Amino acid sequence: MSLLVILSFCFTVPPEKPDTLYMKDTFALFKETDNATFICEGNVGNPKGKLIWQTQRKGENVSEVNTDIQTDYIKIEKYCSYVGMSSLTITLSDKDNQAVISCAEESLMNNTTMVRYSQPVNVLSTYIIGIVCGVLAVIVIPFVVWILYNHKRGLINKRNNSTETNNPSLITPQLTKLST
Ligand SMILES: *[C@@H]1O[C@H](CO)[C@@H](O)[C@H](O)[C@H]1NC(C)=O
Ligand SMILES: *[C@@H]1O[C@H](CO)[C@@H](O)[C@H](O)[C@H]1NC(C)=O
Ligand SMILES: *[C@@H]1O[C@H](CO)[C@@H](O)[C@H](O)[C@H]1NC(C)=O
Ligand SMILES: *[C@@H]1O[C@H](CO)[C@@H](O)[C@H](O)[C@H]1NC(C)=O
Repeated sequence: MSLLVILSFCFTVPPEKPDTLYMKDTFALFKETDNATFICEGNVGNPKGKLIWQTQRKGENVSEVNTDIQTDYIKIEKYCSYVGMSSLTITLSDKDNQAVISCAEESLMNNTTMVRYSQPVNVLSTYIIGIVCGVLAVIVIPFVVWILYNHKRGLINKRNNSTETNNPSLITPQLTKLST
């Protein structure tokens, strides 16, 4: 009986640096007003701690701390510990471009060596997208018109060649007819 008590007794286990922090849509191109979801997982120790999210925006000297996000747990019997999982969704704004998202177990959140950091988030500005589309339109539309024009001219030339005549007087009226 004493053996059973010993076996079912768990010592406290210290939390660790989260194993992973990743973005749900890794290959998405984000623009303003899009929602980006980040997922963080790792050993949160025993007794289990909460995962805390922080957002460090470029040019801001303090990071925004988000303590309201729920942490879900899976108990790992073998290690007497808990794996915590948390998911943060933010609606992106232009301020979030190049922001770094991080997560850590609450008691370790101020220890940078125990915090997991994301890659800087790329947020395409709708203003820039507008400019790029405008520039493309200015380049692409005349190009397409030029191609169509040349294509049409090519067709006319082909037709004229297939008339199999050496009399130029016969070609000229045909050309004027086609181009009107
Ligand atoms: C982003 O999230 C907000 C708040 O949860 C929601 O109202 C909005 O519809 C979402 N936008 C998109 C594009 O899913
Ligand atoms: C952050 O910057 C503001 C001014 O932008 C300044 O007042 C504040 O002291 C700074 N805080 C820290 C922790 O450096
Ligand atoms: C982390 O630092 C902040 C501000 O310096 C402080 O308010 C907070 O209590 C600290 N958290 C922990 C877990 O030490
Ligand atoms: C941060 O965590 C590491 C690893 O647990 C530890 O060695 C270090 O002393 C901690 N630093 C601070 C400032 O608490």
